[in-house]
Amino acid sequence: MVDTIASAHEAIALEEKYGAHNYHPLPVVLTKGEGVFLWDVEGKRYFDFLSAYSAVNQGHCHPRIVSALINQAKELTLTSRAFYNDKLGLAEKYVCDTFGYQKALFMNSGAEANETAIKLARKWGYTKKGIEDNKAVIVAVKQNFHGRTTTIISASTDPSSTKNFGPFMPGFDIVNYDDIAALEKALANKNVCALWIEPIQGEAGVFVPHDGYLKAAEKLCRQHNVLLMMDEIQTGIARTGKMLAGDHENVRPDLLILGKALSGGVLPISLVLADDEVMLVIKPGEHGSTFGGNPLAAAVVVEALQVVKDEKLAENAERLGIIFRDRMNALKKKTNLITLVRGKGLLNAIVINDTPESDTAWNLCLKFAENGLLAKPTHGNIIRLAPPLVITEEQIHECCDLIEKSVLAF
Ligand SMILES: Cc1ncc(COP(=O)(O)O)c(C=O)c1O
Repeated sequence: MVDTIASAHEAIALEEKYGAHNYHPLPVVLTKGEGVFLWDVEGKRYFDFLSAYSAVNQGHCHPRIVSALINQAKELTLTSRAFYNDKLGLAEKYVCDTFGYQKALFMNSGAEANETAIKLARKWGYTKKGIEDNKAVIVAVKQNFHGRTTTIISASTDPSSTKNFGPFMPGFDIVNYDDIAALEKALANKNVCALWIEPIQGEAGVFVPHDGYLKAAEKLCRQHNVLLMMDEIQTGIARTGKMLAGDHENVRPDLLILGKALSGGVLPISLVLADDEVMLVIKPGEHGSTFGGNPLAAAVVVEALQVVKDEKLAENAERLGIIFRDRMNALKKKTNLITLVRGKGLLNAIVINDTPESDTAWNLCLKFAENGLLAKPTHGNIIRLAPPLVITEEQIHECCDLIEKSVLAF
């Protein structure tokens, strides 16, 4: 029998004492979620404006996704890939049809999917592009966020990701984001096998590149026989107002990397999609994961994506995103606390008029929480605002009122 928590204070004290201090959570202790709402252990209700970093685009505990999870959990959860199961092929077909690729490779965390894409790109570089052994280079961009493994942080420019975690993996060339001239130069190197980018940099603070950047990047990749490797773990699955953020510019990456909302938040599921020419470079035994592509995940991913389509969540994100940014821009005019509003669909951020080292954004998030809305600063003075995509127009206005009230009272 597991003990129960008597108070918020106790829950926080336990995590502090027994958990690693690798996060700095807001002091709220949550116990229940439904749709756009979260409740803390004292029964207070909040609008969730983080959506578990965009993993719960479909809303908390979506009944259809939870049912798919429970029904499959009663039948079969894990076989390993040593055997076939009757769900994985269906899920692979479903995601290939949905996103328009020939092959799918399921993993668990976002970081693992990025690692998978790196291996695919390198092996493609050696076996198809003819890059000399161990010379392959992947071009990445400044302020990227692709996860926390030692290989992935080797391409990071964020000191909190890298300091004291070296030595680093070689084979990355880092250029400025949203800078086509820099890409043009970097991709001309014959050893480059891939360009690795997020269509919008979520963790960095919702940096949206200028219109045409992604299309130009895709064109350069084609010109130089370089794979376009797009990390849509945070931006994908309707978050930015299209099924994929790349869809805004009709960009089709060679390697599409997805995670988070693939499960609507009920399981860790990640995925790499590619066509045969790329995916089939990996042979049996060269890559895998005990849990990757398990039947439980396979059942969940199909239902979670079908919910996104049936509930038209991309359309909702597009429409409500415009209303949200209009309201935030109107608020910006009433206060000097907000210097910038940016984003796409329902992935948005406000930039606070203070240095990244200040605690103003943190204190403002505490004020939001007091008023019933949960959000968190990303990189100091930027607050990401990303509710579940099931939010209604009326609720968006209610949340804008809450944000306005908090900002003006600050
Ligand atoms: C763009 C992007 N890539 C990768 C990751 C890493 O995903 P995970 O935490 O599931 O490893 C994240 C997580 O925030 C992300 O936003």
